[in-house]
Amino acid sequence: MGILDMFRLDGKVALVTGAGRGIGAACARAFAEAGASVVIGARTQAQIDAVADGIRATGARALALPTDVMREDQLEALVKAALDTFGRLDIVVNNAGGSPPGPALKTSTTDFVNAFRFNVGTAFALSRIAAPRMVETAGGGAILNISSVAGNHPAPGFAAYGTAKGALSLLTRELAQEFAPKIRVNAIAVGSTRTEALEFVVRNPEIERRMIELTPMARLGEVEDIAACALYLVSPAASYVTGDIVGVNGGLTTLNLPMPRAFG
Ligand SMILES: NC(=O)c1ccc[n+]([C@@H]2O[C@H](COP(=O)([O-])OP(=O)(O)OC[C@H]3O[C@@H](n4cnc5c(N)ncnc54)[C@H](OP(=O)(O)O)[C@@H]3O)[C@@H](O)[C@H]2O)c1
Repeated sequence: MGILDMFRLDGKVALVTGAGRGIGAACARAFAEAGASVVIGARTQAQIDAVADGIRATGARALALPTDVMREDQLEALVKAALDTFGRLDIVVNNAGGSPPGPALKTSTTDFVNAFRFNVGTAFALSRIAAPRMVETAGGGAILNISSVAGNHPAPGFAAYGTAKGALSLLTRELAQEFAPKIRVNAIAVGSTRTEALEFVVRNPEIERRMIELTPMARLGEVEDIAACALYLVSPAASYVTGDIVGVNGGLTTLNLPMPRAFG
């Protein structure tokens, strides 16, 4: 096998949550280009249909199923649809997540718990639903969690999101131990990447300029930066890599979105 062949996903089936736009959509397109059939789950039908249609137009197979990752019955249905349609499941990307930064003292306990549930609870739920089926139908596979630099580096304003992504990164390492050697589990610690989720910050040109200035690589990330790493981590090229949190963040060693401290 040539070295580039190790990045191919021919014959494999990949499921990506939150793949209607942004990083998830870019991962789904990358996996399809590498030969996989892809299953696309997010809540907005028009967006998942558009991603699936784009993939089918390239000759690859795609299934779009409206899914709210907060609903465990819908995660069960998503895995079932993947198996019913494509007969196997090799790859799961827990990408749906997020929550806006904000002062800890203005974050309700409910908001905190919801951020935790959305970013790490849903990844746990889908992983435990999918893993046995991956082993049964494909002999094993790869799970990839989309985490954040905010999970590595504490900063004012990130108590809810940072704690949740920090937990997602640790869950990655825990499950990697428990699921080895059949299923590899890795995460990407994503840095500021140009998607709709970042819109609320970068629509202010002054904030964008400051973020870029604080980023060693002197630019924001593009979704393809993340998708390229995702492809590596789920492909045979990374068959000896598990329990790792790979940074794709322009070299950040601290967050590039300065927020005020609580007490001045
Ligand atoms: N962009 C960044 O700078 C950055 C940095 C670090 C980490 N990340 C992480 O990267 C991941 C993707 O973010 P993104 O920037 O690509 O965001 P995005 O462009 O806003 O896309 C988010 C995707 O997730 C879907 N989604 C949202 N809530 C969902 C739910 N309850 N169930 C199923 N799907 C849901 C959205 O579709 P619907 O709303 O239609 O469901 C959409 O397809 C997140 O986990 C985020 O925390 C992003």
